[in-house]
Amino acid sequence: MATRTIVTVGHPALRQRAKKIHRVDESVKQLVDDLIDTVSATPNGAGLAANQIAVPLRALVTYVDQKPQVFINPEIVEESEEVDEAEEGCLSIPGWYGPVWRKERVTVRALNEKGKQFKVKAADFEARVLQHEIDHLNGVLFIDRMEDKTQLHRVESDEEEEQLEDEQVFA
Ligand code: NI
Repeated sequence: MATRTIVTVGHPALRQRAKKIHRVDESVKQLVDDLIDTVSATPNGAGLAANQIAVPLRALVTYVDQKPQVFINPEIVEESEEVDEAEEGCLSIPGWYGPVWRKERVTVRALNEKGKQFKVKAADFEARVLQHEIDHLNGVLFIDRMEDKTQLHRVESDEEEEQLEDEQVFA
């Protein structure tokens, strides 16, 4: 078990466009294991991209319903016209939340931890997490996607945070 430090806003890795992974070798397997260990050890973590542990490679994990799934070189190959607005938070912008519009459904093609290609059709919360994490790989943060930046707000107490956690992405 190896948890890594999650870097926060201001760290240059969060603004880098992560590089494509050409071979899923032992070092990549170690990286995705560390991503899983780190997100699963983080309260309310729903996903984590490699940039967030300062590794500028195109790998992310989702952790929806506490089930880890690895996406290497993920690409959105289909998306719905329908969009949906919900509150998001980010493990790299701790304590801050704001509403973001996302596609309701996306189909993502990627490689798994064995280097095998797969496709996932995701909807609602899972689709939101995937869009948030793929943004990270492109150096984009949820605050960049907010139409009205004045709606960015801080959640101070644990109690408030508990009330919000069911509907929010902490990724
Ligand atoms: Ni994030």
